[in-house]
Amino acid sequence: MTKARAERKLAREAGAKTQVTTSAEGPLSQVDQEWQALPGIEIPPRLARRKRLNALLGPEFSTPYDILRSRTVRQMKEAGWTRVAVTSPNTKCGKSTISMNLALSLARYGQFRIILMDFDLRRPALAKILDYRAAPDIEGLLHPGSRLSDYAVRYGPNLAICANRVAVRHSAELLLSHDTEASLDRIEAEWQPDIMIFDTPPMQGNDDNLGFFGRIDCALIVAAAGSTTIEQVDRCEREVGKLTNVLGTILNKCRFPDTSADYDAAYY
Ligand SMILES: Nc1ncnc2c1ncn2[C@@H]1O[C@H](COP(=O)(O)OP(=O)(O)OP(=O)(O)O)[C@@H](O)[C@H]1O
Ligand SMILES: [Mg+2]
Repeated sequence: MTKARAERKLAREAGAKTQVTTSAEGPLSQVDQEWQALPGIEIPPRLARRKRLNALLGPEFSTPYDILRSRTVRQMKEAGWTRVAVTSPNTKCGKSTISMNLALSLARYGQFRIILMDFDLRRPALAKILDYRAAPDIEGLLHPGSRLSDYAVRYGPNLAICANRVAVRHSAELLLSHDTEASLDRIEAEWQPDIMIFDTPPMQGNDDNLGFFGRIDCALIVAAAGSTTIEQVDRCEREVGKLTNVLGTILNKCRFPDTSADYDAAYY
């Protein structure tokens, strides 16, 4: 696993990765032209509010995600990582919501290309969050010869989202397959994302992440106040730590936010 990660890092460094270009700066790079050609989606403010896409609702709401974004970028860039999974010990902790918000906050940075993938193959959620009824069947993307452009939609110039319409049978086997590995490598080489975010299932109750986490660089763990126990967090951190690098643990759904720091969002 460590060897595979190091090989991926070398391959990335060897590839001539281009910076994001915008039309205001002159002609778009070839890669950015491909990104521009992806079908675009909109996220209306009402949907953003209903689905808790706080990263889109202004600084009062987006600050926690912006802090998460900055920490994530710093740690991943320092280590030369590009692939981060979002997981949790138990269900309904907010993984999909946080994956979306992290991607949206990163995209707002403007300097990075982000690919967000729904890799909770048993219970896909991003299509529902986006109210994207025509979402494709992501399984096809993980087979040889597939093209990301047939599966992804673009939000803004630099966020590609691969949502999924239907649950995938034999998801653990698919995630472990060489086809999946080759597809991810191909997507990374062709589309040159700075960060790929994978919304994944909880660690409890299935084995999907056990194989797949060997193919990513790091993971964020989401715990939910009121539903995740300390023991579950400890066990999850140990388990994920054996499979990949733990970037951090997020406590979500806190009803009483910590306002001890006197520079919370309201201050600004
Ligand atoms: N900070 C929050 N406060 C309150 N509700 C939240 C918060 N974050 C997410 N939710 C809500 O909790 C529910 C579960 O969120 P989400 O689908 O993101 O969790 P999940 O961990 O991906 O679930 P699953 O285990 O089914 O994949 C959703 O209704 C979502 O809107
Ligand atoms: Mg989910």
